[in-house]
Order: sequence, then C-alpha cells, then structure tokens
Amino acid sequence: MMLPEALEEVSESSTAVAQAVWRGLVATPRSLPPWLFYDATGSALFEQITQLPEYYLTRAERSIFARDAAAMLQAAAGGRRLTVLELGAGSAAKTGLLLAAALRQQASVLYQPIDVSPTVLALARQNLEATLPGVAVEPHLADYSTQPLPLHRPPDTRAMVLFIGSSIGNFTPQEAVELLARVRRQLAPGDTLLLGYDLAPGAASPQKSVATLVAAYDDAAGVTAAFNRNLLARLNRELGADFNPAEFAHVALWNEAESRMEMHLQSTRVQTVRIPASGAGPELVLPWRAGERIHTENSYKYTRQRLQQLLAAAGFAAVQTWQDEPLRYFAVTLAAAV
Ligand code: AVI
Repeated sequence: MMLPEALEEVSESSTAVAQAVWRGLVATPRSLPPWLFYDATGSALFEQITQLPEYYLTRAERSIFARDAAAMLQAAAGGRRLTVLELGAGSAAKTGLLLAAALRQQASVLYQPIDVSPTVLALARQNLEATLPGVAVEPHLADYSTQPLPLHRPPDTRAMVLFIGSSIGNFTPQEAVELLARVRRQLAPGDTLLLGYDLAPGAASPQKSVATLVAAYDDAAGVTAAFNRNLLARLNRELGADFNPAEFAHVALWNEAESRMEMHLQSTRVQTVRIPASGAGPELVLPWRAGERIHTENSYKYTRQRLQQLLAAAGFAAVQTWQDEPLRYFAVTLAAAV
C-alpha cells in the first residue's frame, strides 16, 4: 500500500524499546509497558483477539453503536455541525457506524483520527473515504497520550472526541485523569467526549462473572497468550535478546482490589536471559526463578460512578450512558466539556 507522503513510517526507535526494557526488567517486580505489544505481529494478533468468542468487549461496543449512534451524534451536536476526532484510530468498522450517523444529520463530516501509526491512519482514510463519501479524513500523526490534541476546528462546529474500545482501561486511573484533562484543555465548553469502557463484574455489571472476564483475557484458542508472548519475541527480533517465549506462561488474573485484569508472563523454570548491550546500557544478564513474572498489562474495569468521578476530575460532565443489551457488560458515556 502507498502511504501518503506526510505519513512516512516511523516505528518506535530501537533505543526507545531498549530503554523501556531496561527500566522494566531491572526493576522489582519486573514489568514491561503495554505499548510494546503493538508491533506488526502484535497488532495483527490484537485484531484477531477482537474477533474471539470470549473477547466480548468489541462486540458489545459495536452493538451499542449499531443501535444508538444516531442518539449519540444528535446529543453531541446539539443542533450544530460536528467535527469528529478519534484518539487512536479505531477499526473503520466501528467508527464507520458513528460517522454514518453523523452523515444522516449533516451533508459532510471532517474526521480527524490521531494515531502513532501511519499505516493505521492510511488504512482508516482508505476504508472510510471508499465506504462513506461525505467523510473527509484528516489524519494526525501524533501520540495523544503525551502530546496536545492537534484539533482542526472549522468555524461554527462542535468537536466530538472519540476514545472508544476500552483504551482508557490500559491507563491507571491517575494517568487517565491526566490524559482526559489534557484533552479537555483543547476543547471548548459544549464540545464532547465519547468514552467506551468495560464494566467491573459485580454491582456495575451483575451478569458478568469474574470467569467471563478472565476468559476474555485467556481464550481457549491461545490467541491472547500468543499476543502476550509476542512481546518476548519482539525483544528477540529487535534487541537480539535470547528469550524462549515457550518457557514463559501466559497468566491472566482479576485483581479485585484494583478493579483490573492483569496480564503477566511467568517463567516456567530457573533460567537466564541475555539482552545485548544497546544505546540504553550494557549487556543485561537476567536470572529468573521458576514462577517469577513480568507484569505486561493492566486493563481497568469501571463502575459508572467511578468513571463519572474521573470525568469530573478532568473537567467533563456525563450527559448520557448507553449499554449493550441484554448482557450489559460494556458502557459508552457521552460527556460534555464544562
Ligand atoms: C487495547 N486494549 C483495550 C485491550 C484490553 O482489553 O485491555 C488490549 C488487550 N489485552 C488483552 N486482550 C486485549
């Protein structure tokens, strides 16, 4: 595929990867940041995860959009024209449902996906412009988690920011508030944020058991295990490390106290792993005990009340919330900048 000239491919530098690995693996307990999952192999595995029978999140959110997109877009517009921004360009399929609803209330819509991957941005543009004439795609190559929102607002429009797919769950609550507050600073009162999040089992989602949640992160076909282990394969490919991914077990567990799913990689035996010297530092020789883990991901699950507290702390007020029926596993909240 040809990438637009302005979107030259820039993968994370091997120095950034080496630094993250150094920081995470010499610490106790060991951890690696979840952004390391998403090299080309990891992104393809994540796409497969979204289609697994156990991974209900994507299906639940899509069903909410399929039923309620018109109401969401109407509430966001309040009679004005909308421009739609998306933090992390989602799959065109889910965003397409929202943009199609926008086109039923205005003749054309400016869609601004923000992502660190030029490949993802080019694909979003290609898919949406082919399937939804009337959508003008203006991609922004940026890291929304650290950089200001590159918002282009045509006169007399309201901005609607999409942060969907439960991506907020991969930030700690404190990081989430900081991120949402940064988004809020780029918005005007009346602009909106559409947030998709996974509900905690228990009172927030009475039909969801912990077993359902754990299965979503430890599927029978082993795709999530492969996604988790690909992290080690990536370190072998990019840093010349000598991990044997088969000797690290995939562990997915529910941490009730923190209201989060956690993923870990657990050494199945006593072993030593070497990571050659790099810009980040000298050679690393890492001894492992049997059962010792690397913490690779948190995926926070929220109650509606807790989520509204985060929104309020960031300068947003919840306007309306929609849930999937009949299971009510997932929620989408529209919040206005106040
Ligand atoms: C991208 N993110 C919202 C996913 C999640 O559910 O936390 C990543 C994922 N990890 C394991 N399965 C999916």
